[in-house]
Amino acid sequence: MEDMDKFLFKFKGYYFNRLPLDIGFIENLDNFEIRENDVFIVTYPKSGTIWFQQLLSLIYSEEHRKGTGKLETMDRVPFFEYKTPAMDFEERPSPRLFSTHLPYYLVPSGLKNKKAKIIYVYRNPKDVMCSYFHFAKNVTSQFTGTFEEFMKRFLEGRVMGSLWFDHIKGWYEHRSLFNIQFMTYEETKKDLRGSVLKICKFLGKGLSEEDMDVVVRQATFENMKYDPLANYDNIIATGYGPNAKGHFLRKGTIGDWKNHLTVEQNESFDKTFQREMKDFPLEFTWDMNETRMRSKAQIL
Ligand code: PPS
Repeated sequence: MEDMDKFLFKFKGYYFNRLPLDIGFIENLDNFEIRENDVFIVTYPKSGTIWFQQLLSLIYSEEHRKGTGKLETMDRVPFFEYKTPAMDFEERPSPRLFSTHLPYYLVPSGLKNKKAKIIYVYRNPKDVMCSYFHFAKNVTSQFTGTFEEFMKRFLEGRVMGSLWFDHIKGWYEHRSLFNIQFMTYEETKKDLRGSVLKICKFLGKGLSEEDMDVVVRQATFENMKYDPLANYDNIIATGYGPNAKGHFLRKGTIGDWKNHLTVEQNESFDKTFQREMKDFPLEFTWDMNETRMRSKAQIL
């Protein structure tokens, strides 16, 4: 049986995850008071959110870099729309760090004053879809169908986060409203140090060479996978039970879609991609050994 719908909550055209949702908070997102030095990571699900949470935690917290603190990255860079009742955002000291999957039109209007900073992280959508499939099947157990069925659902946007195409296009086309830096999962994978420098430059944060080494070392896939404060295994165990088989940090690679999609599925995906992303200028990296390109069809 495939009944993922019961885990979704649609509000203003966007699918939230139903379970940890504070509806009163969601209804008032627009009025949430933004501070000038707030920083938001914005992602479509499975695009590297927890990676950037770890990067921001490390950049901003000496305690986290030194390993002396006990806070999980989820508490250092909490999910904005999935705020727990115990978390009072008003009480948080500045600079407040947040992560969110919200579409551009649902974020607090105060973000449009262009002072608070937003890092939008995107990843090639075939890898996003594969990562999402494993997560929905093995971690949350919200999806019990086949890969083919999940692909259909993903391309129709019937998942938490709604349609990938709408998410990235919405944020990109409205970028002039925000103080926003676009980054990719793939560039971060290929050049972690260069990406940390880019983030620091955007945020106006200077790090010593020594601190930079620590950030880069602690944000690699291998280190995060075994870091209990960064790998979310704890959250999986408490949120989804001891039988959850999967992990947030699953493979952490570029091009895993090649191990999932059949030739027909790939062609069908490409067709939708071409239709939806026609005239969209950002480029995507589909393979570890390739540079960015607009159409993944070129590398098949
Ligand atoms: S979620 O549920 O939306 O918060 O998931 P998200 O964190 O956005 O995405 C999870 C994928 O990001 C990969 N990841 C990393 N890859 C490389 N290096 C590091 N350090 C890293 N941290 C997280 C994670 O492995 C998921 O991708 P897949 O392809 O499933 O491995």
